[in-house]
Amino acid sequence: MSDNNKSHISQNQKSWDERVHVHIHSDFYDVSSFLKGKSSLNPVEINLLDNIHGLSVLHLQCHFGQDTLSLARMGAKVTGVDFSSAAIQKARELNDLCGLDATFIECDIFDLPEHLDQTYDLVFTSYGTIGWLPELTSWAKLIKKYLKPGGRFVFCRVPSGYLYDG
Ligand SMILES: C[S@@+](CC[C@H](N)C(=O)[O-])C[C@H]1O[C@@H](n2cnc3c(N)ncnc32)[C@H](O)[C@@H]1O
Repeated sequence: MSDNNKSHISQNQKSWDERVHVHIHSDFYDVSSFLKGKSSLNPVEINLLDNIHGLSVLHLQCHFGQDTLSLARMGAKVTGVDFSSAAIQKARELNDLCGLDATFIECDIFDLPEHLDQTYDLVFTSYGTIGWLPELTSWAKLIKKYLKPGGRFVFCRVPSGYLYDG
């Protein structure tokens, strides 16, 4: 990866560490309803995912883990990855508070092969995850690497024209 791309990723990481503290207290993420059992996933993701009970799931760029833990509540064995230490710390706290058994890995997505060497039934990622990345070819190769033969990739993105401020 070029020095320019490394610098971009490092600046973006700092910005996400700061955003976590804002998002935790935001109406949008609604942590209190999540803690009472509400899923953070939207109907469109839930329909695409279908029955994931018993499946192994890798959740890329999981932020502070509400979607990851919602997948766990659907019966999947889930691993979430994000490069924000603040996000991963909060995700682990929520996991413990909810009595779930998700695993969280803190790393730049492009360094994931240094931390993880197994394949999954399903790779999931959603809104607000690709706009930060310097290029998508390596990212797509990661998805292929982590999928079992016949595994599924489920990706929900914000429709073009819709303003998303992360
Ligand atoms: C908008 S949030 C994703 C929200 C997500 N849809 C959810 O589950 O709530 C984008 C996330 O991507 C993460 N991210 C951005 N670039 C990354 C990278 N290079 N490696 C790992 N995580 C990254 C950020 O830390 C942030 O948590």
